Amino acid sequence: MKSVLFALLLSLGGSWAQRQLAYIYDLPNQSNLGAWSGRTESCSDFRYCDTYITDNMISSTRVTGIWIFYSEYFYNYQNEGRVEWVYGDGYMHNLNNVNNQVSSLRFVGNQNNWKANSITLFQFYFFLGLAYYDWTDNTQVPSGMSTVGSLIITGQNYWTVYTSTNFSGNRACIRVQPGQYVGFAPNLDEYGIFTVRSYRRGCYADKKITLNSDQHGFAVKTWE
Ligand SMILES: *[C@@H]1O[C@H](CO)[C@@H](O)[C@H](O)[C@H]1NC(C)=O
Ligand SMILES: *[C@@H]1O[C@H](CO)[C@@H](O)[C@H](O)[C@H]1NC(C)=O
Repeated sequence: MKSVLFALLLSLGGSWAQRQLAYIYDLPNQSNLGAWSGRTESCSDFRYCDTYITDNMISSTRVTGIWIFYSEYFYNYQNEGRVEWVYGDGYMHNLNNVNNQVSSLRFVGNQNNWKANSITLFQFYFFLGLAYYDWTDNTQVPSGMSTVGSLIITGQNYWTVYTSTNFSGNRACIRVQPGQYVGFAPNLDEYGIFTVRSYRRGCYADKKITLNSDQHGFAVKTWE
């Protein structure tokens, strides 16, 4: 009985370690001398969603999983503003592009295991706007995602993305860097993929792309 319980606790411990969690701090260097908070959920508007951290306050973070910090409410839904992304296992980072400007924050991928296979499509470049998360094949991206400007994949699978529904149109295989669990495509146009209307696991195209897997990236989107 005891050993069963112990095994159960061990497996829980294992899965907790992969669970998405962002510690966010008012001060740099993850200092707990100022306000801080531990979040397991996204926050669309820091004026309302966190007890300890409010709008335009975050300076540093320690993340498990994949987290994106936005300068505007609702993940820069107006396709404008600053953004900074980080991922890892207890990865520590001082924000620079959005230091003291964060108004929304979201995690990407599987909430309970950030290394699990998944694909997330974003409405605009640089992971701005609406997001559409999935973990399996899809012949038709919902019409609510009428544009797809960027994407993030997790896990070590290849995915094939198609510019038309039902696995047709231009296509490319995408994967993360070998040994990594996250791949970023902040601007799909760079790969000649101007939208994504269907996708599936595995590689079914001649064109093979290994995405960027840097632990940190940022962008600034302004109106031309
Ligand atoms: C953060 O830590 C670095 C390295 O230890 C140090 O050089 C820097 O002064 C610290 N910054 C603040 C604001 O405490
Ligand atoms: C996709 O395939 C389904 C089932 O065969 C079909 O009903 C649908 O019209 C197809 N859609 C497109 C855009 O080809």
